[in-house]
Amino acid sequence: MASLISAAVHMATSSRLFLEQLAALVGPRGFTTDADAMAPWLTDWRGRYHGAAAALVSPANTEEVAAVVRLCADHNVAIVPQGGNTSMVGGATPSPDGGAILLSLRRMNRIRSLLPDSNLAVCEAGVILANLHDAAAEKGRRFPLTLGAKGSATIGGLVSTNAGGTQVLRFGTMRGLVAGIEAVLPDGSIHSALAPLKKDNRGYDLKSLLIGAEGTLGIVTAATLTLVPAFAERRVAWVGLNDPEAALTLLRRLEAALPDAVESLELIPAHALDLVLAHIPGTRAPLDAPHPWHVLIEATAPESPSTLGDRLTAELESAIEADIVKDATIAASLAQDDAFWRIRDSISEAERAGGVAAKHDISVPVSYMPRFMMETAPAVERAFAGTGVIAFGHLGDGNVHFNVMAPAGAPPDWLASEAPAISAFVHDAVTAAGGSISAEHGIGQMKIDELERLSSPARLNALRAIKTALDPKGIMNPGKLVPLAKKPRPS
Ligand code: FAD
Ligand code: MLT
Ligand code: ZN
Repeated sequence: MASLISAAVHMATSSRLFLEQLAALVGPRGFTTDADAMAPWLTDWRGRYHGAAAALVSPANTEEVAAVVRLCADHNVAIVPQGGNTSMVGGATPSPDGGAILLSLRRMNRIRSLLPDSNLAVCEAGVILANLHDAAAEKGRRFPLTLGAKGSATIGGLVSTNAGGTQVLRFGTMRGLVAGIEAVLPDGSIHSALAPLKKDNRGYDLKSLLIGAEGTLGIVTAATLTLVPAFAERRVAWVGLNDPEAALTLLRRLEAALPDAVESLELIPAHALDLVLAHIPGTRAPLDAPHPWHVLIEATAPESPSTLGDRLTAELESAIEADIVKDATIAASLAQDDAFWRIRDSISEAERAGGVAAKHDISVPVSYMPRFMMETAPAVERAFAGTGVIAFGHLGDGNVHFNVMAPAGAPPDWLASEAPAISAFVHDAVTAAGGSISAEHGIGQMKIDELERLSSPARLNALRAIKTALDPKGIMNPGKLVPLAKKPRPS
C-alpha cells in the first residue's frame, strides 16, 4: 500500500503565496502566524507534546472551512483540526516540523437551533460543552454527556473523539447522542447530513465513521445532538468502601432498587482523593474516616417531590448492613453536590500537579474490571520498582484511567525512558483480557505505536484502507490514529 502521507505534504507551507491565499479566505480575524498567539494551542493539556504550525486558521463558517481544506488539498498541506485542545492523547497537537496548519473551530460557536419539543440541538463544532448545557437548561432540557473539561471541550472535539465522561452509564457515549452531522471531507466537499433520521440505509454510515475519527477523515463543522428532559431532582452520594468489587456490587444493587435513576458511579482510590485535597484549593474529604476506595454516585428523578432521596438512603444503609459499604453520605445541598463533583472532576488536574504519570485509558468487560485492577496494579508495581498505580474513573462502564505514577525522585526523562515499557505491560494485560487500550480518549499520537503493535491485521488493514480511500493525500491530521503502512523491504 502506498504511504499515506506523500512527501509533498510538508512542502508548500513555506510558500508565501499559499499563506496569503489562506489569509484571504478567512480574513484577518481568522488568520495568524504570530508565535505568541499560536503558542497556547501548540502544546497539549498535560504539556507532554509540543508542536509547530505554519499558521493558525480560524474559519467563521462551514464554507470557509471548505475553502481552506480545498486550498490545502491543492497544495498538499496537512491540517490539524482543533477544538478546546483538551485531548489526553496529543490528538490536536501538530508535529514539531511546522509543516501543517492548525485549523481551530473555536470561532464557529453558534447553537444554530435548540428545539425542546423534538429534544434536538444543532450545534456548530466550536460550541463549548458547558455552554450547550446552559442553553439546554434554559429550555428545560439537558445534554446529558459531561466531563471534567466541559468548560473548554467543544462539540467538534467531543464528536471526533467519541467522548465518554461520567454519565455514560445511563446515556452512552457521544456516538449515541449524535443524530446528524455536517463535515468537510478531505477534498473540501461538504457532507451535509444534519437531518435527524431515525432510519437511513444508504450504505456505509459516514456519520459513524466521522465520530471518533480524531480529525483524520475530515472536519466536523456541526452536529445535531439529542437532548433529554431536565431532571427534577438529583442526589449525589459519597461512599467509602474496601475495594472495587464492592463498588460494582453496590452499583448492581442500586440499579435493581432504583431503575433508570443511577447516572454515575465513579471510582476514586484514596491516593487520588489525597492528591485532590493536597492540590485543589477549597476541597475537603466528604467522609470523616479514611477508606481505601470511594465512589461518587449520582441518581436523578424526573419528578419533584420524589422519593429518590429516601430510596437512596435506604439502599446505602442496607449496603452498610450487608458490609458492602463502610460509610456513606448524601449531599445536603446543591453546593455540596457541586463540592463532591469538584473532587471527582479535579483528579486529572491534581494528578498533573502531583507528578509525572504514565497514563492509560483502558476498558475490559465490566464485571471483570475489579479483578483486573486488583491483579494488574500490584503486578505493575512489582515489575517497575517505586511506581504507584492510581486507577480511577468510570467503573460502571468497565473503563478506568490506570495511571502509573513515577517513583519519588525519578529523573526528568522518566516518562520518555520508562513509560513505553510500563504501557506495554499494562496494554498487554488489557489485550489478554479482551479489552481496549483506548476506552474514551482516542489514540492521537500517544497510542499510535501501541495500536499498531496490538491490533490484528484485519483491524489495521481496515483502518488504513478507510483512511486512504477518504484522504488519499494524507493531509488530515497526519501522525494521529492511523499507523502508517510499513514500506515493503527491498527483496
Ligand atoms: P481537541 O482536544 O481540540 O481535539 C481532540 C481530537 O479531535 C483531535 O484529534 C482533534 O484533531 C480532533 N478534532 C477537534 N475538533 C475537531 C473537529 N471539529 N473536526 C474534526 N476533528 C476535530 N474525555 C472523555 O472521553 N471522558 C472524560 O471523562 C474526560 N475527562 C477529561 C477531563 C479533563 C480535565 C481533560 C483535560 C480532558 C478530559 N477528557 C475526557 C478528554 C477530552 O476532554 C475529550 O477528548 C474531548 O472530547 C476533547 O474535546 P476538545 O474540543 O478539547 O478537542
Ligand atoms: C477523567 O475521567 O477524569 C478523564 O477522562 C481524564 C483523565 O483520564 O485524566
Ligand atoms: Zn474519563
